Amino acid sequence: MFAIASDHGGLELKNAIRKCLDDRGISYRDLGTFDNGSVDYPDFAELVGRAVSEGRMEKGILICGTGIGMSIVANKFPRVRAALVSDDFSARMSKEHNDANVVVLGGRVLSPETACKLVGIWLDAHFEGGRHQRRLDKIAELEKELFKG
Ligand code: RB5
Repeated sequence: MFAIASDHGGLELKNAIRKCLDDRGISYRDLGTFDNGSVDYPDFAELVGRAVSEGRMEKGILICGTGIGMSIVANKFPRVRAALVSDDFSARMSKEHNDANVVVLGGRVLSPETACKLVGIWLDAHFEGGRHQRRLDKIAELEKELFKG
């Protein structure tokens, strides 16, 4: 199951991405925000980051104005590999090399068409494993060391 969330800066793009996911028959849970009122992006990045980190959600999509704030917060959570993408190549690499389990987009950066295309590329790509798994293992080791105690 996917979780999707945005702040007010990403709301419009979130709604466009929801439609793309609906068109592809992909089920997801929308964790907000639900109106244009100003909210704080860390609250919504936390909802998705925590759910993915704890294994309650398999993957997540986060959108704020630039995508930067959401990325910063989501990557605080152990086991979350959040990738801010704005081009096709990075969207594909984020899965093939980094096995990104959260994709982050800028609502004030991307058109709805581009955002839907990038989400589709990320969804369709496959993690390559091999040397890339070794690198992810190193991230996991770092997390263990940094978060112990
Ligand atoms: C909100 O105005 C804006 O700061 C937020 O959406 C995001 O771009 C932060 O990184």
